[in-house]
Amino acid sequence: MSMYKALPLAALVAASLAGAAFAADDTKNGLGARPGLGRPITDAEIKAWDITVLPDGTNLPPGSGTAATGAKVYIDKGCNQCHGEGATGGSNPALITDQKMTPGDIFSNKTIKNFWANSTTIFDYIRRAMPWPAPRTLTDDEVYALTAYILAGNKLIEENAVMDAKTLPQVKMPNRDNFILRFPERI
Ligand code: HEC
Repeated sequence: MSMYKALPLAALVAASLAGAAFAADDTKNGLGARPGLGRPITDAEIKAWDITVLPDGTNLPPGSGTAATGAKVYIDKGCNQCHGEGATGGSNPALITDQKMTPGDIFSNKTIKNFWANSTTIFDYIRRAMPWPAPRTLTDDEVYALTAYILAGNKLIEENAVMDAKTLPQVKMPNRDNFILRFPERI
């Protein structure tokens, strides 16, 4: 029979609660020094991974871009190979399109314009995931420019509007208010 089975439940609970205190200094409970593996992660290392941009623009980096620059970056970085000329199609999702969703049809095509709730998601998505063969290779200026290009093409901003950490979160996506929040208390 194991030692734990022989202990009454109350003792087990007390032992596991006390375990939290032991863990801080293993030399005091007779377990000896820790093996000394690993090291605390540095702030710089966390920062490199902590790139999530929130709907209100929190975590957007410095930098800016316009649709005109974005049109150039779009070709230079080969986005057209998969998203088509002018971002209107190709073998992968059309980034600029007026395609509508069919109400009640769960399979109807969801596009950036007809579905995405937040403009800042476009920046976040491109920065972390595109171009598909080489994610995280774009500069923040290039990502702002590509975001402006997609927003202007979808007629959600003026052609010459500058997108940056201040202006981008102010762009209201058409479908933003049509989502049901599953956990409103977490917002
Ligand atoms: C090799 C092909 C390829 C290239 C090149 C590429 N993409 Fe994509 N892109 C994809 C695929 C595939 C998806 C869909 C991924 C998914 O749904 O999981 C996608 C999705 C996207 C989306 C989300 C679209 C939506 O409606 O869900 C955006 C925005 C985007 N790409 C932007 C870009 C930009 C900007 C570039 C150039 C810097 C680029 N992509 C280059 C293949 C590519």
